Order: sequence, then C-alpha cells, then structure tokens
Amino acid sequence: MDQVKNEIWVGNEKFVPFITEEEIQKRISELAEELTAEYKTKLPIFIGVLNGSFMFMSDLLKKIKFNCEMDFFKLSSYGDEKISSGKVKLVKDLNADITDRHLIIVEDIVDSGLSIKYIEDLIADHKPASMKVVTLLLKPDSLKYDVKIDYIGFKIPSKFVIGYGLDYAQKYRNLPMIYALSE
Ligand code: PRP
Repeated sequence: MDQVKNEIWVGNEKFVPFITEEEIQKRISELAEELTAEYKTKLPIFIGVLNGSFMFMSDLLKKIKFNCEMDFFKLSSYGDEKISSGKVKLVKDLNADITDRHLIIVEDIVDSGLSIKYIEDLIADHKPASMKVVTLLLKPDSLKYDVKIDYIGFKIPSKFVIGYGLDYAQKYRNLPMIYALSE
C-alpha cells in the first residue's frame, strides 16, 4: 500500500489529507516538552488506551527522555461503526500497580469522552497520586461527558478521521498521517 495518498476511497466515501505527518510529529515534540516540564522527576506511568493510541504512544514515548514506565488498557466502544455504541468494554486491564503513582493516560482521540470517563472511574478505586490525560485529537463539539483533558494535540471539528492509529472497521490504522471524510 502506498502510504502517502491524496485521497483514500472506502466504498463511495472519500477521505482527504487532514493532518500531515510533519504537523503530527511537530506537535508531539511540543507535547513531550510540556510533559517533561511537569513529570521529569516523578517517574510517571504512561498508560496507552489500545488499539487507537499505539502509534501516538510510540512516537510520544520516543520523544520522552526522562525515566518513565508504561502500561496499556484495551477498551472497545465503537465496534466497526463510525458512530459510538455508547458502551465501553474493558478488554485488557493494567498490569502495573498504580496506587500512589503519577499516571498519564494516552489517547489517540477524545470524542464523546465516554472512554476517558470510564477510565477515570476504573482508576479512582486504585488511588493513584495523580492522573492526567494527553490526547492527540479532541473533538470539542462531540463531548458528552464532563472530562478534563490536560494535554491536547489538536482540537478538530466533529469529522470522521482515520489514520495514525485511527481506524475505519479496523483498517487504515497504519497510515502515517490523518485523513478526514470529505463532506
Ligand atoms: C476510540 C478511541 C478512543 C475512543 C474515543 O476507541 O481510540 O479510545 O474511541 O471515543 P469516546 O471519547 O467517544 O469514548 P475505539 O473504542 O474505537 O477502539 P480502538 O481504540 O480499538 O479503535
């Protein structure tokens, strides 16, 4: 598959370039600097939310030069549809002991906020020292839950986006940049 395309067709739906690889990497470097200022002496645990966050987590962590640990949740909420099912399922729990630890939840996208709300509730029982959220993308107009997102890569309109970890029916996660459905 040619990785840099000017348009991608999924059936009769056309996706066009939205955020380039260069823009993504530049913004991740800035986020890494902000996180460094806050966490460099705190030995935080970065917690990726699979599957979508795998690419962002990897690129972000490559730019983090202080000591840290990492772990993953695997949640599923969307099935194979473009619209959320409104339900979240925990598919894989954490292995790390998070009590009294500083946690940084890493998301590819916050849409309704349901996944983050679910994670907040799940984590609160374990009494971490702190919990903050970093997301590459946030759709402010789609938020339905009262969640605090601490570090945001890009605020985007409520368009359907694919690539860079984000899927359409499990495909296109491996694209190195983000494409949006053309209206
Ligand atoms: C996507 C994305 C977030 C969540 C955001 O995950 O990775 O975790 O949806 O939407 P929300 O704010 O409305 O909860 P999805 O459940 O599609 O699974 P995936 O990460 O495997 O793609």
